Amino acid sequence: MALLYKADPTRGLEWKALLATKAPDLPVHVWPETGDPAAVRYLAVWEPPPEMLTRFPNAEIVFSVGAGVDQFDFSALPAHIPLVRMLEPGISESMVEYITLSVLALHRNLIDYIADKAAERWKLIRLMPAAQRRIGVLGLGRLGEAACRKLASFGFPVSGWSRSPREIEGVTCHAGEAALPGFLAGCDILICLMPLTPETRGFLNATRFAMLPKGASLVNAGRGGHLIQQDLLAALNSGQLSGAVLDVTDPEPLPKGHPLWAHPRVIITPHAASMTRPETAVDFVLETIRRHHQGLPLEGLVDRQRGY
Ligand code: GLV
Repeated sequence: MALLYKADPTRGLEWKALLATKAPDLPVHVWPETGDPAAVRYLAVWEPPPEMLTRFPNAEIVFSVGAGVDQFDFSALPAHIPLVRMLEPGISESMVEYITLSVLALHRNLIDYIADKAAERWKLIRLMPAAQRRIGVLGLGRLGEAACRKLASFGFPVSGWSRSPREIEGVTCHAGEAALPGFLAGCDILICLMPLTPETRGFLNATRFAMLPKGASLVNAGRGGHLIQQDLLAALNSGQLSGAVLDVTDPEPLPKGHPLWAHPRVIITPHAASMTRPETAVDFVLETIRRHHQGLPLEGLVDRQRGY
């Protein structure tokens, strides 16, 4: 019985060392080393290996090493093999930091001040109290909920939107397509933390931007595929949007010379918002394996119909 890790090899070696202490009976292989493929029961992968299940015929659980699962072809995974998203606290803690960083940068006019510095211009912008800056979060899963709670603690009015109804203390929650225009009309800063599915691909587009208050700004820490880049550029250039922080793009990285790189009102980070933390990820994996053997429901189990 063995676990195969296939993602960043440096972190793979950390997984291996941690698991050697926490689960000494579970051999760990770091791709491309696989040991005896028939012994591999658990796969923790980012990009799944080609013909994963023919190669590892005794696989029992497939873990995504990240929070997202849009990199998987669900049709290539037989229904009896659970696909599990990484619900480990390290991912949400670092995502909350990134969202806080981005919201505060936008709220405190950092984009203007960076441009002013380049122009050697000293120009004070009147402060706006947090209570007057309305924040909206698209996607109220683990990451969205954690981000909402932290932002509310600064005194921002926070609302959230999700496909199905949610309740989060201190957060105005909206659900479903019909609620979207009302939600968007009240977002001065819009944050995308949705999973990428066929329904959410291209979600951040001109129609949605037009529903935001004029001068609103955007943080995309979901997937590059959520955003129609031309629509963002048009909205920034018309002043409908005043700024954007993008941690994800499509493709990654953007090609050299892409207009988003040089746009003065866009901050880009290289898919760096959050990273799976080996120390806490291995605990989640071991707990999931334990629950699987006890026939208990698995946290983070992907609903393939829903897409996340
Ligand atoms: C990263 O984007 C992840 O899905 O964890």
